[in-house]
Amino acid sequence: MDISSVLQGGYQHPLSRSWQARRTLTKGMLMYPIFITDDPDAYVDIPSLPGQARWGVNRLEGFLGPLVKKGLKSVILFGVPMLCQKDGSGTPADDPKGPVILAIQTLRLLFPTLYIACDVCLCEYTSHGHCGVLHEDGTINSEPSAARIAEVALAYAKAGAHCVAPSDMMDGRIKAIKRALIDAGYGNKCTLMSYSAKFASALYGPFRDAAGSAPSFGDRKCYQLPPTAKGLARRAITRDIAEGADIIMVKPALPYLDVISDAAELAPDHPLACYQVSGEYAMVVAGARAGVYDLRTMAFETTESMIRAGCTLILSYFTPQFLDWLDE
Ligand code: PBG
Ligand code: ZN
Repeated sequence: MDISSVLQGGYQHPLSRSWQARRTLTKGMLMYPIFITDDPDAYVDIPSLPGQARWGVNRLEGFLGPLVKKGLKSVILFGVPMLCQKDGSGTPADDPKGPVILAIQTLRLLFPTLYIACDVCLCEYTSHGHCGVLHEDGTINSEPSAARIAEVALAYAKAGAHCVAPSDMMDGRIKAIKRALIDAGYGNKCTLMSYSAKFASALYGPFRDAAGSAPSFGDRKCYQLPPTAKGLARRAITRDIAEGADIIMVKPALPYLDVISDAAELAPDHPLACYQVSGEYAMVVAGARAGVYDLRTMAFETTESMIRAGCTLILSYFTPQFLDWLDE
């Protein structure tokens, strides 16, 4: 055989195989999404998201304590209000007694080293279930939407969030949030992670179940990106960098690895996140239960594909399992 034909000499040992990765998955690269509800003692399983639950603030110590001990480094909080009065502008989103703000304060006290990010959106808190403020005809009213999102983000920053992560996809919200943070003295205290390339995906179903955030009419196609939109995704990433995002995110992850790779090229000087969303997680679990593959092997293969594409941070429902798997 010709000398240049032989590659197998380079990866015949488990250690030399590990050297083939440019970056290796570590616990610090995983951010765990958790759902906080407004009944402080709640623990409610989410059937469409196997292994995940809605938690009341009083349950957080018992839930996260063991995970922090195993090396959990960061969480991202999603509010799931059940008892509040929803309205057109999502007033309960920044209620100082609402579940997210209480959870931030509680977690800061309980786990001083844990990094706390907060998803920022209105859909869990609006009567219509859309992610922004609407005109009378039901279309998005961009400027008040960005202003309201900025208000909510600032409230989370003031409560002690290390990072705010707007998932609403309203035009101009990154600039509005960054301005609000700077003007209130939080410019250097809170990271702004933008869901920059967030697609109108069929993979959010279990999340909307969990969070009760499905729109009451229409869909999100006029603000979330069309799944075919490679150029628009690149423009959204470039725009959000210019508007002051500290971290760029692509979401969902597995069907959009090309966009992750584009983002790595467009934002080489920023951390790059991706979100393996609820439907991707449910799909991996369902396939394993159907005997298509081994769960752990597939969880590693999908997650490592995202790292290979260029991600430095992954929002993953598999985080608790990885804390064990990465120790084995
Ligand atoms: C709400 C939001 C969604 C997700 C994160 N924030 C759902 C949506 O946009 O409809 C999806 C997360 C997941 O599916 O795990 N803006
Ligand atoms: Zn939303």
